[in-house]
Amino acid sequence: MDFEERIVAPDMTSMDNDIEVSLRPKVLTDYIGQEKAKENLEVYIKAALSRGEALDHVLLYGPPGLGKTTLAGIIANEMNVNLRVTSGPAIEKQGDLAALLTNLNEGDVLFIDEIHRLNRSVEEVLYPAMEDNALDIIIGKGPSARSIRLDLPKFTLVGATTRAGQLSAPLRDRFGVILRLELYTPEELAQIVTRSAGILGIDIEKYGALEIASRSRGTPRIANRLLKRARDFAQIRGNGVIDEDSADYALDKMEIDNLGLDNIDRLLLETMIKSYNGGPVGLETIAAAIGEEAITIEDVYEPYLMQIGFLGRTPRGRVATPAAYEHLGIINPNTQMTF
Ligand code: ADE
Repeated sequence: MDFEERIVAPDMTSMDNDIEVSLRPKVLTDYIGQEKAKENLEVYIKAALSRGEALDHVLLYGPPGLGKTTLAGIIANEMNVNLRVTSGPAIEKQGDLAALLTNLNEGDVLFIDEIHRLNRSVEEVLYPAMEDNALDIIIGKGPSARSIRLDLPKFTLVGATTRAGQLSAPLRDRFGVILRLELYTPEELAQIVTRSAGILGIDIEKYGALEIASRSRGTPRIANRLLKRARDFAQIRGNGVIDEDSADYALDKMEIDNLGLDNIDRLLLETMIKSYNGGPVGLETIAAAIGEEAITIEDVYEPYLMQIGFLGRTPRGRVATPAAYEHLGIINPNTQMTF
C-alpha cells in the first residue's frame, strides 16, 4: 500500500486539506491537550505582549500530525501578527529565504515546517536573522565583492521538526523556546473528535468518540480523518449517528484494529517476530524487509508502537515486546513456561 493512502498516516495529505484548516483552533484556550507546552507558551506569549516585544523564536518538535502548524497559527493569532508558512525543503536558495524575511512585518511569525531539512547555506542566512535581525548580502564577485547588512523587522521564527536531534547545534541554540509535543491520550483525542464533530455538524455519542480516539494512534490528524469515514459508515450502514457500535463497525471495515494499528504496523511487528525472532534487529534490516524507508519507520511508525509498549529501541537494535506478541496472537517462545 502506498504510504500516502494510509488512513492512519500522520502526515498531511490532500485528503486533509478540506477540513483540517476549518478545524484548527485559533486561540490557545481552544487547543486541547499538550498541557505542558500550552501552559508555558501561554506565559511566554503574555509576557512578550505585555512588554510589547516579538515572541522569542520557538522550536516545536515531536511526531507528525500533533498540531505544530496549528500551534504556529495560534501563536500568530495570540500575538496579533501575520503568519507566513513555508518549509525547509521549499527554501532552496539563500535568496528564497531573503525574500521571505524582507517581506515580514514587525513581530510577524515565520513558520518553517521540517526545519531540519534546510540546507546549510540557507541556514547560514538564518543565524544573523534570528540573532541580530540582520540580513547579510554579498554584492559583486571576486576581489571587489563586499557584504552589506540590511536591517530586518523583529520577527518570531517558529520551527517545526520531527527530529530535533537532526538540527544543527548552532540552529538549535538560537531558539529561546523549545517545546516538545507528545502523542495525545485517548481522552484528549475524544475531546478533539467531539469538538470537530460539532464544527462539522456530525452526530456523535461519547463512546463513539472514544472508540475513534482510542484507534487514532495519539494523533489528532488521524482522529479527524477517521471521524469523517465513520460518518460515512454511520450514514449509509447505520442511522447517521456515530455511536460505539457504528464506530467499531467502521474501523473494522477499515482494518484498523482496536489499538489503531493498521496492516503495515502489524506487518512490521510480524516481520520482526517471525523473521528475526522478535529482535534485536537493526532498523535498516527491518526497513529493507518490509520495503519502507528507515526514516519513515523511525518517525512515523515507531513513536506510537513505542508509546503502547510494543517496540523497544536497544543499542543492538529494535525488539518486539511480549505485549506485541500477545496483541498479534503469536506465542512468545521466550516467555513460555517450562514444566
Ligand atoms: N485539532 C487538531 N489538534 C487539535 C488540538 N490540539 N486541539 C483542538 N483541536 C485540534
